[in-house]
Amino acid sequence: MISSAHISIAAKYIRDGRLVAFPTETVYGLGANALDPQAVMKIFELKERPSFDPLIVHVATVEDAKRLTITQDERLDMLAEKFWPGPLTIILPKNEIVPNIVTSGLQTVGIRIPNHPVALDLIRQSGCPIAAPSANKFGKISPTRAKHVFKQLPGVDYLLDGGKTQVGIESTIISLNDKGFEILRHGIITQEEIEQIIPYHTLVEQDNIISPGMLKSHYSPNKPMYLLEDDLPPTIDKSRAGLLSFFGGNTSGYKVVEILSRDKNLRTCAVNLFAAIHRLEEANIDYILAESVPEKGIGIAIMDRLRKAAYKYRPIK
Ligand code: TXA
Ligand code: MG
Repeated sequence: MISSAHISIAAKYIRDGRLVAFPTETVYGLGANALDPQAVMKIFELKERPSFDPLIVHVATVEDAKRLTITQDERLDMLAEKFWPGPLTIILPKNEIVPNIVTSGLQTVGIRIPNHPVALDLIRQSGCPIAAPSANKFGKISPTRAKHVFKQLPGVDYLLDGGKTQVGIESTIISLNDKGFEILRHGIITQEEIEQIIPYHTLVEQDNIISPGMLKSHYSPNKPMYLLEDDLPPTIDKSRAGLLSFFGGNTSGYKVVEILSRDKNLRTCAVNLFAAIHRLEEANIDYILAESVPEKGIGIAIMDRLRKAAYKYRPIK
């Protein structure tokens, strides 16, 4: 596990303009000093991430969040009070101290306070906000353990191993408009929970919301993955497949089975989701078949990840 000496070394790496992978409560992040454009550039290079995909900036306090934005919107305080530290990213008009490379040239910046002692200590000791995408190659499966980071990004300068992450899927991302908030990426914090603080109001049809960098294909395993609810290719043979099962229902006949939550808890499914896909990617099987869950509450965020993971292999209709 991580000692405070490790975090001090990692903070020095950040101050020196180098990259540090670190645990948050959602997934591992690949961090750099958000105020140093050259350091941020290294994130894009190591991840092979296109420059149009903006980064989330992580801070330790609401005051530090406010240094990054020109907003006077009191809804920021209301949301921060309820959800920070935690898995909610808020898109706000950016201040000029935020380099354009962080926001891909947008006039807005995504900010969150992560709920993880190592992440918070790292930010405090670094003395700067930390820009961090998920610590995976662009478009690939997100990391919920240090070994997942190492598998995809062995070239990272420093890796803080904080064990398994506690939420398992990335933060909910929202933006604010005159009448309320809209959701750019679903996560463990649901629309209903946020609606208890401010009203939900979308300006465009939810399906048409464009957030730069959010593509239909994402989280792709290195093996073909299909959703059982889709028409499967006729050649599919269960005995050569790995099954991603939510609650362990119909598992017979598969070569490998991953059960996300035997006690039928969607939070547990989210926690285990990416680790299970990492294991299936490494298993001696030809393809991955995944079950679905109803798209309600946390089920929306989970199915978003699964549909994107299966997107590039989906049968052409
Ligand atoms: O839980 C998380 O959010 C993790 C941990 C490390 O904090 N981070 C994460 O970052 O998932 P990433 O880069 O994998 O996804 C961030 C997404 C981008 O792809 C982009 O779509 C959106 O956040 N984003 C960032 N800044 C934005 C902005 N100014 N406007 C709209 N979308 C933005
Ligand atoms: Mg990501």
